[in-house]
Amino acid sequence: MVLKRTQRKDETLEKVLVPEEAAEAEASLRPMTLDEYIGQTDLKQHLLVYLEAAKKRTEPLGHTILHGPPGLGKTTLAYILAKEMNAQIRVTSGPAIEKPGDLASLLTNLQAGDILFIDEIHRLRPAIEEVLYSAMEDYALDLVIGKGPSARSMRIDLQPFTLIGATTKAGAVSMPLRDRFIHNFKLAFYQVEELKKIIARTAGILSVAMDADAGDLLARASRSTPRIANRLVRSVRDFAQVNNEETVTHARVKATLTSLGIDSHGLDTTDRLILLSIIEKFSGGPVGLSALAAMLSDEQETLEDVYEPYLLQCGYLQRTPKGRIATKMAYELLGIQMPEGERRLF
Ligand code: ADE
Repeated sequence: MVLKRTQRKDETLEKVLVPEEAAEAEASLRPMTLDEYIGQTDLKQHLLVYLEAAKKRTEPLGHTILHGPPGLGKTTLAYILAKEMNAQIRVTSGPAIEKPGDLASLLTNLQAGDILFIDEIHRLRPAIEEVLYSAMEDYALDLVIGKGPSARSMRIDLQPFTLIGATTKAGAVSMPLRDRFIHNFKLAFYQVEELKKIIARTAGILSVAMDADAGDLLARASRSTPRIANRLVRSVRDFAQVNNEETVTHARVKATLTSLGIDSHGLDTTDRLILLSIIEKFSGGPVGLSALAAMLSDEQETLEDVYEPYLLQCGYLQRTPKGRIATKMAYELLGIQMPEGERRLF
């Protein structure tokens, strides 16, 4: 991992991770085996059975779809499954596959037992998705060569492989594609105790000494998400180092969270802004996603995939057929009196 130092106007030096490096940093903390993987207990138990059965039959694992909010470990699981199956993994994403030919080339280059991981699989274009159907079902590619009356179709056999698809939006995956996955797993948000273990593991890998109560506070501020927990470990490490502290203390975590705009519930400035906008600009809701996104100058997709799941999970937000509503808990969080009439609703 390369840390770039950038000079800011106020002459303070800040370490900035550019996206590719952030991904690399994340990869360096990835558990390599299911044994090392913390949390998602039910999912892990099921996977262990399917892995053992596939290995006993010397067959591929079976096409698997992983869904859930970002940062919960879908990509990590795909790498683990490849390792557990002793298979090579090829990694791509829905938006990266532009033409049916791109997918055909990926598929024809797979060797027997390989895993093809398609992140954001809900973003595959329909014409590309269609190529996947016969590939998944029959390990074959049906290609149409030429155009018009002289067009002819050709079938190319593929090696048996496993497709692992990941998505933050299970509902956006078309039914014909969804039906072709044998295993379907939903990743759940993590418990504080699980995050504490992940944080301790990460601190160990990064050689960061951390007090137990500091780890506990970090776990609670991590939005139930390992990716955020790991980022926060790196942040507190930097703040502690700059302050010449050898051990990360509770006070250091608290100060770091405050300077990052993260409150004791783990909500950041955007989370609070979303709730505040619903309350102040839309009288508490219901408000449609597009109106909310326009008000916040944010992408609908980011709101829906990144921010909403945690706010819904914590009970600050409710989704109704008419739109999003800020709950009584959201008013309490922001210290705003809920209008009398609204109380009946919750
Ligand atoms: N790092 C990120 N996610 C993890 C997990 N689920 N278990 C262990 N380490 C992790």
